[in-house]
Order: sequence, then structure tokens, then C-alpha cells
Amino acid sequence: MSELRLGRLQGKVALITGAGAGIGRAAAKLFAAEGAQLVIAEIDEQQGESVLREIHEQGGAAIFCRTDVGDPEQVARAIDAATENFGKLNVLYNNAGGSTPMDGTITNTTDDEFWRAIRLNLYGTWLCCRLALPKIIEAGGGSIINTATIGSEMGLAGRDAYTAAKGGVSSLTRSLAVEYAAHKVRVNALAPSRTRTERLVKLFEMGHTSSALDNRHLHGWAEPIDVAQAALYLASDESRVTTGQVLRIDSGMSIS
Ligand SMILES: NC(=O)c1ccc[n+]([C@@H]2O[C@H](COP(=O)([O-])OP(=O)(O)OC[C@H]3O[C@@H](n4cnc5c(N)ncnc54)[C@H](O)[C@@H]3O)[C@@H](O)[C@H]2O)c1
Repeated sequence: MSELRLGRLQGKVALITGAGAGIGRAAAKLFAAEGAQLVIAEIDEQQGESVLREIHEQGGAAIFCRTDVGDPEQVARAIDAATENFGKLNVLYNNAGGSTPMDGTITNTTDDEFWRAIRLNLYGTWLCCRLALPKIIEAGGGSIINTATIGSEMGLAGRDAYTAAKGGVSSLTRSLAVEYAAHKVRVNALAPSRTRTERLVKLFEMGHTSSALDNRHLHGWAEPIDVAQAALYLASDESRVTTGQVLRIDSGMSIS
């Protein structure tokens, strides 16, 4: 007789930022399929509602809370929504982020683009961690997953605002992992390389990203689900002694 298989996130409540598209969307559907109750914290209402519908259609439990990760009131509302609707918060996945074609080398990038990159990628992560940590501690501990990039782990030219912001995310990940270990909170980050999201494909088609690095992706570009699977591992108890790590999901690019 086959044993009943429980989801890998059964009994957990997770909040995913930027869950309306790309990697976040893949993670939201995967986490829900693995039994998590979810808060979709997404700035784009249409995208957020659409992933919510898909999760409900697959029989998952989720709510959508329109959230700009750079706005303290909106982030606080999304975190409260987790405890009000599902009673607790165990997992925070800081996925919202990204760069734009306005980014470049330090001498040709405006301060506006620098602050945009910092606000979305670093401050958004900072804010969500700051406001979620007390709730995760209250729940007896849990897991925070941040999003760096391979560009913050090695010297990559041409996206200086973005890599500066993501470098801050990697460092913050390690500090929080040490500070909150006593509260049974693990903090890790994912560092993806090229991942075939609609946004990246569009940037590529518009010629805004160089193809020089592609030859070094030993197994080709990642798909959003490849990064989502790594997030699932970090969210689950399977990674219970993994903390402070920046996990490269880079198709071997950084070692080749
Ligand atoms: N795609 C890649 O190749 C790649 C590589 C390295 C790192 N990353 C990182 O992975 C993460 C996801 O990337 P993606 O390619 O899936 O992005 P994406 O653009 O496909 O999706 C990002 C989602 O975040 C939402 N969002 C944007 N600003 C927001 C805000 N202020 N508050 C809340 N939500 C917001 C968007 O509406 C969108 O739904 C980002 O942090 C990105 O920097 C991506």
C-alpha cells in the first residue's frame, strides 16, 4: 500500500513578494502545490489576481495583497494579512526585484536609477525582513529566502546599481542568519543567473543584455521553476541546518 504523501510545506504559511510573474509566480504555484498557505504580495494587481486564480484552481490556499515592497505600510498590511487569514507566518520569500536597461556602468548610470535599484532590491528586502521577523519568531522560527543574483557574487560589468543593491542583499542575508539563529530563523539567499522569465526574454530581444555569458551556462538558461525548486528546499525543513548561504543557481556559469 502506498503511503500518503504530505506536501513538503504542509502546515506552513509563506509570503512571497513579486509573486505575480517570473520566478515568484513559479514559486507561488509550487509552494501552494506543496501544501503552503500563501500570501501573494505583488505590486501589479492584475498579475497578482491571475496567479491567485491559478492557485485556487489547483486547489491551493492563497490570498492576494497588493504590495509595493518599498512601502512600509503596505508591507505591514501584507504581513498582517498572513496572520489574520492563516494564523501565523513561517516563511518569507523576498523575490521582488530586478534591473532595468537604465542601469549600466557607474559613470553612465543616473542617481535615479541607483536609488530605484536600491529601493526595490535592497530596501524592499530590508523592510520585509524587519517587519516579518517578529511574526516568524512568534511562530517558533522559520525561513527567510532572499534574492541576490550571480552578478553580486562575481565581478560582472554593466549593471552597477543592480549589483550594488544585490550585494547588500547577500551581506544582509549572512548578518541576519547569525543574529536570528537563536530564534530558530534561518536566512539564505538565491543567486540565479540567466532565468527565462518574460522580463528577461524581452530585455534580451531588445538587445539590452549581452549574450557573451551564455556560452558559460553549462546546462543552458534556468527556467523559473529551477529557481523555485531551490526556494522550496530553503523554505522546507529539509534545509534545517542550512543558513547564511547564498546558493548559486547559475548553470555552472560562475565556475566555468
Ligand atoms: N530572471 C533572471 O534572469 C534573474 C537573474 C538573477 C536574479 N533575478 C532576481 O530574481 C527575482 C525575480 O526575477 P524575475 O526575472 O522573475 O522578475 P519578473 O520581473 O519576471 O517578476 C518580478 C515580479 O515582481 C513584481 N514587482 C516589481 N516591483 C515590485 C514591488 N515594488 N513590490 C512588489 N512586487 C514588485 C513585478 O510586478 C513582477 O510580478 C528578482 O529579484 C531578480 O532580480 C532574476
